Amino acid sequence: MSSITKPATAVSVLGVGAIGSAIAQALLAAGITVTVWNRSPGRVDELTARGAEPATSSAEAASASPLVIVCLTDYTAVDGILDDVSDAIAGRTIVTLSTGSPRDARHAAQKAESAGAAYLDGGVQTEPAAVGTAAAVFLYSGSPAVFEEHRTTLETLGTATYLGADPAAAAVQDLALFGLWYDAQVGYLRALEAIRSVGIDVEAFAAAAATQLGHVVHATADTAREVTTSSFPRGPADLTEHAHVLEQLTELRHDQRLGDGGLDDIHGLVQQRIALGHGPEGLNSIVE
Ligand SMILES: NC(=O)c1ccc[n+]([C@@H]2O[C@H](COP(=O)([O-])OP(=O)(O)OC[C@H]3O[C@@H](n4cnc5c(N)ncnc54)[C@H](OP(=O)(O)O)[C@@H]3O)[C@@H](O)[C@H]2O)c1
Repeated sequence: MSSITKPATAVSVLGVGAIGSAIAQALLAAGITVTVWNRSPGRVDELTARGAEPATSSAEAASASPLVIVCLTDYTAVDGILDDVSDAIAGRTIVTLSTGSPRDARHAAQKAESAGAAYLDGGVQTEPAAVGTAAAVFLYSGSPAVFEEHRTTLETLGTATYLGADPAAAAVQDLALFGLWYDAQVGYLRALEAIRSVGIDVEAFAAAAATQLGHVVHATADTAREVTTSSFPRGPADLTEHAHVLEQLTELRHDQRLGDGGLDDIHGLVQQRIALGHGPEGLNSIVE
């Protein structure tokens, strides 16, 4: 991992559940002084046995280090902790690592900054066992200068992906990736529902489904380029041909338990694009 700044000499970790505890261990392994606090105090014992400093309150922990990592279940918990530490964090940097919404992230940023702290929002895209290795991906957003100041320290936790100045960006990417998985998985389940309804062997269908999903995977970079450049070559079919298929697919899914997956709306967008003269373009044109 590359570095410009030196790692922090001291970091506080508030919340040592599965991820927070792995973070504290990775920081200790990097030779950093780590102060830990957890709502249920017994949870810090293993870390203090490995050399972490225990704090008796969240405020004491937050004031102990220039960089404070808050790793709690959700933003309701984060909100409460930011209230509890508000008198102790002026001049510190708060990094929140919890799954949440863009609104949660902006609210936490505003709250930390009004208490005089710098703020980075983060998303966790790893299992605890990978923390401390490059396989662990953490997403960050907030001030670029603040990220740069702490980048080397954050890189001790894993791959640190910086997404921009808007504190909501990490939450948006985190949720967008979850959404991608749900769309693909539920789309597959919809296909299985249809297949099963006419007695086709569902397991035999799996290989054909893998090939079809592979087309999406294979085209991810080209699709991103088309969206960036607003250039939509026809590809395997143009919008007029897609409109016919979408109409039939919507009819097939009409009474399916898992619904039509929004295809009716997509069909409407395709028709709008055709009406505007974009019929010869490919499906990706509907993002315009
Ligand atoms: N674990 C994963 O594999 C994974 C993967 C991706 C993302 N994430 C995300 O990472 C975040 C942390 O997950 P985790 O697995 O570390 O969770 P966890 O093991 O359940 O730990 C949750 C932590 O939050 C603390 N907490 C909860 N409510 C609190 C409150 N009101 N006040 C103070 N502390 C509170 C808990 O304290 P107590 O010990 O007192 O209960 C504990 O330290 C979550 O947002 C999760 O969605 C986790």
